Amino acid sequence: MLRQVARRLMSNMPESTVYGGPKPQSPSRRVTLTHLRQKHRRGDAITVVTAYDYPSAVHIDSAGIDVCLVGDSAAMVVHGHDTTLPISVDEMLVHCRAVARGASRPLLVGDLPFGSYESFPSQAVDTAVRFLKEGGMDAIKLEGGAPSRITVAKAIVEAGIAVMGHVGLTPQAISVLGGFRPQGKTVASAVKVVETALALQEAGCFSVVLECVPAPVAAATTSALQIPTIGIGAGPFCGGQVLVYHDLLGMLQHPHHAKVTPKFCKQFGHVGDAINKALSEYKQEVESRSFPGAAYTPYKISATDVDGFLKELQVMGLNEAATAAAAAAENVETAGRPSEDTS
Ligand code: KIV
Repeated sequence: MLRQVARRLMSNMPESTVYGGPKPQSPSRRVTLTHLRQKHRRGDAITVVTAYDYPSAVHIDSAGIDVCLVGDSAAMVVHGHDTTLPISVDEMLVHCRAVARGASRPLLVGDLPFGSYESFPSQAVDTAVRFLKEGGMDAIKLEGGAPSRITVAKAIVEAGIAVMGHVGLTPQAISVLGGFRPQGKTVASAVKVVETALALQEAGCFSVVLECVPAPVAAATTSALQIPTIGIGAGPFCGGQVLVYHDLLGMLQHPHHAKVTPKFCKQFGHVGDAINKALSEYKQEVESRSFPGAAYTPYKISATDVDGFLKELQVMGLNEAATAAAAAAENVETAGRPSEDTS
């Protein structure tokens, strides 16, 4: 009790919330693979959303989303690249750490970026270890299902790290896929999706993302696997769904993003419009000097201290500054208020 009082009196103790901002999330337990397995067994859909920073992570946590994927889609939706290929491990780790600070409940999955795991299993294990140790992730995701990739997935699982697979359209392989193209549209390609997903399950993956495949191919894969499939552009017959944060919020309303927004993505909000409107209003209010008015000028100085301050300014030879301070002291209470109707 005494210690609690002392803590409150110590002015240098960090406040539990910053400027009355987001409260720490309820101490509910972290989603684990066991939770996901139970949910899948009950036939309940698993919810996955990408996040790249602290605010998106806080929102995902508050919404009760099961899994937060720090996707390499960050390269496109955060860094503005045309593909996911350029993002580095170090850049991904910055995103991972910010997300880990913001999301205490969802299972955190970090996406291994292109070039960080393909060469040999020990390279993949080393990168995956960094995502847990330095990025604060609970698991990793990797793309593809070639035999060498299955070996890598197995090596990471054997190192004690949970792995999410990813088949169908694997954006890191656009060089060989010939672009962002749906997969599984021919018999051979559809069979390959199912076989690859089965091989990833066999390697120990806890779930597999199915990206941009026809619904019957997703349904067959979901039925063939014991682990949950997580669909994106793969229709409803999956164990769960994942969408990219910015896409589902309708956040990026500008020409570059319109070019890359996938057609399977429903925009559950039009946050981009709200952001554009808020920024235009901010610009207009700053330019018209109606912001910040008295309501947003909270820090006060007493009349006595203003007088003392003006005298000091005059002693310093700063007469114009003194006049400006005196005028401000007089006008701050009315600043920003709509002008009175004098007619
Ligand atoms: O990077 C990403 O956002 C992803 C999802 C599309 C599954 O891999």
